[in-house]
Amino acid sequence: MRVAIIGSGPAGFYTAYRLMSKIPDSIVDLYEQLPVPFGLARFGVAPDHPEVKNCQDKFEEVAESPNFNYIGNVRVGHDVQLSSLKAHYDAMIFSYGASEDKKLGIPGEDLHGVFSAREFVGWYNGLPQFQNLAPDLEAGDRAVVIGQGNVALDVARILLTPVDKLRHTDITEQALEYLSRSRIRQVRVVGRRGPLQAAFTVKEARELMNIENVSFEPIDPSFYPTDIKKLPRIQKRIAEVLLKGPKNPPTHASKSWALDFLKSPISFNPSPSTNNLTSITLSHQTFAPTADPLSKSASVVPTNETSTLPTSLAFRSVGYKSTALPGLSDLGVPFDTKLGIIPNDPYGRVVSPSKGPGDLAAAHVPGFYCAGWVKRGPTGVIASTMEDAFISADVVASDWESGVPFLNSAPGGEGKSTGLGWEGVREEVLGNGVRALGWSDWKRIDEVERERGGKLGKEREKFGSVDEMLGALDG
Ligand SMILES: Cc1cc2nc3c(=O)[nH]c(=O)nc-3n(C[C@H](O)[C@H](O)[C@H](O)COP(=O)(O)OP(=O)(O)OC[C@H]3O[C@@H](n4cnc5c(N)ncnc54)[C@H](O)[C@@H]3O)c2cc1C
Ligand SMILES: NC(=O)c1ccc[n+]([C@@H]2O[C@H](COP(=O)([O-])OP(=O)(O)OC[C@H]3O[C@@H](n4cnc5c(N)ncnc54)[C@H](OP(=O)(O)O)[C@@H]3O)[C@@H](O)[C@H]2O)c1
Repeated sequence: MRVAIIGSGPAGFYTAYRLMSKIPDSIVDLYEQLPVPFGLARFGVAPDHPEVKNCQDKFEEVAESPNFNYIGNVRVGHDVQLSSLKAHYDAMIFSYGASEDKKLGIPGEDLHGVFSAREFVGWYNGLPQFQNLAPDLEAGDRAVVIGQGNVALDVARILLTPVDKLRHTDITEQALEYLSRSRIRQVRVVGRRGPLQAAFTVKEARELMNIENVSFEPIDPSFYPTDIKKLPRIQKRIAEVLLKGPKNPPTHASKSWALDFLKSPISFNPSPSTNNLTSITLSHQTFAPTADPLSKSASVVPTNETSTLPTSLAFRSVGYKSTALPGLSDLGVPFDTKLGIIPNDPYGRVVSPSKGPGDLAAAHVPGFYCAGWVKRGPTGVIASTMEDAFISADVVASDWESGVPFLNSAPGGEGKSTGLGWEGVREEVLGNGVRALGWSDWKRIDEVERERGGKLGKEREKFGSVDEMLGALDG
């Protein structure tokens, strides 16, 4: 069995691992658009969470298998067409994540000073695409983050953590330099619903409460029932942390953070004479008459009240978004733009509504599968992405064993896969001037990054551009 997996984040690696253990003679080609692997485990996970990146050790182990090929620096749908790949594989598994972000769709989103959290996170984590972001952390002393998920708290924490505490992490030197000059003293994290509906988890809230000399604006206890012990366990633990406030109440708080609830942005406002952000107008919300304010899923409705929050820096942190790869529809693979996923049965078989209604097999687009954020939407931690990838790999293996049609054995297919995999398209791709990399190339980049980091007392200093990564290979 020859399989192409597209995207080398946690979903791609865990799918490869599971598939190779279920079907020991399967050969997996893992395509990655960047020279370097691991997706958000490298470019999303916060630099002060090094333990989370330990999943990379497992991925390194997976890559040692003789049945595994890494094809880095090849962007599927651009550097190589999906239709060219198809002839050479039995199955294709999409695990290319979510490389866009959701917009709010309100005036002023493009103002100078308004960023998406995805850009900012990518910037401090060395993602080549965002190394020229240049967020102005000196224009004012306040930053506002819209959205109350864990990404929002990552952004707040990076802005508030003393820069010396970040020096030994793998945050980029550029980000350290900007943060050391930052004038940000207050970060407000704004949610459209209440504290019992916030999407962040207790560990991330506690980390903010543990930063030295950072105070927290007390939250209105009337959001909670009088006896918080009656709340479901997860909400109870978050409530305890938020109501208690900072671990060591600061004697001299130089910085602060706050959570604003029941507020939804309606515009980012510029100064009259420039394109620079100066404030955000928020619409005040209230729980819908039929909603239970204690329920995690409580809905809200706007009131007539608005307020204006002055700030020169804002981050939109309302979720990432997947998009369709060019050429998907030519292969009969649909994409749900509303949900931002490749439609699939709950196990990861790509299904085409146009082929139904009927039983699952009738709707499955033979040979196509998906895993990770592009399968279920942009939520879930690495552990849940792993579970989800295992489920996808398990259905590929069980479909293979049960003899259902795969890519080229399906009606309308060309009969049989050439079985050549990457070798079937290699010449064409290289002929187009693409420099495809193998695992040993990544290991060399890794080594040089570690050497650079060692000189600075950190684990690694990432290369900030694809050219630099490729340059490291040329000595
Ligand atoms: C800011 C942030 C912080 C996070 N922190 C944590 C944390 O602390 N702990 C935790 O457990 N989880 C964390 N998560 C969640 C975790 O990162 C995700 O669950 C996981 O990375 C999703 O894996 P994935 O493989 O589906 O997507 P991704 O990790 O996004 O991987 C997708 C890969 O596909 C590649 N790709 C995209 N398009 C193409 C193409 N056309 N051709 C080839 N390759 C392509 C991308 O370059 C990328 O490498 C965080 C997420 C974010 C956004
Ligand atoms: N340390 C970690 O473990 C860690 C770190 C970072 C990320 N992650 C994981 O990565 C995943 C993605 O995180 P995320 O923070 O991007 O997404 P998320 O958890 O889905 O949070 C998105 C937030 O944005 C809000 N929102 C969405 N649309 C909005 C709108 N139009 N206006 C105002 N607010 C809006 C949501 O509020 P509503 O609930 O009202 O929709 C929610 O508060 C999550 O599963 C997260 O746990 C984990």
